[in-house]
Amino acid sequence: MFFLFRLIRISIVFTLFAQLNLNANIEKGKDIYAQNCANCHSVNMGTGMGPDFNLVSYKRKKEDIIKYVSSPSTMFRKFGYSSNAMPELPLTPGEIKDVSEYINSLQPFKLWMKK
Ligand code: HEC
Repeated sequence: MFFLFRLIRISIVFTLFAQLNLNANIEKGKDIYAQNCANCHSVNMGTGMGPDFNLVSYKRKKEDIIKYVSSPSTMFRKFGYSSNAMPELPLTPGEIKDVSEYINSLQPFKLWMKK
């Protein structure tokens, strides 16, 4: 019985920790966005040469956003573009993951949820 309580307590601590950790990634991702993406991408339906990130968040899965940012020049056709103007940015894989986490967090409801 005590064992069960301990297990529940441990899992609560883990859940809280995972949540904190994810929020930290989103916060870091927001900074990375401001420094590396905001010149070309808005997040509030503003203007820019790249698509607004609220739309990207609605349309794309996090894994696909990571793939695009890692290599726009090999992904643009798969994403439906006929040309590629986005450069490959000098970000680490961890930074790409954080900024993708941030973009993913902008819209809680996703296009594929309707399917
Ligand atoms: C110099 C301008 C520029 C910068 C800087 C830039 N992008 Fe882009 N991005 C674009 C353009 C233009 C497109 C449209 C496709 C293309 O030309 O590659 C695009 C497309 C994308 C897409 C695919 C959108 C979709 O769903 O169809 C993602 C994801 C993306 N950018 C993420 C980022 C992230 C994250 C950053 C910052 C780390 C960033 N971009 C920085 C110009 C830019």
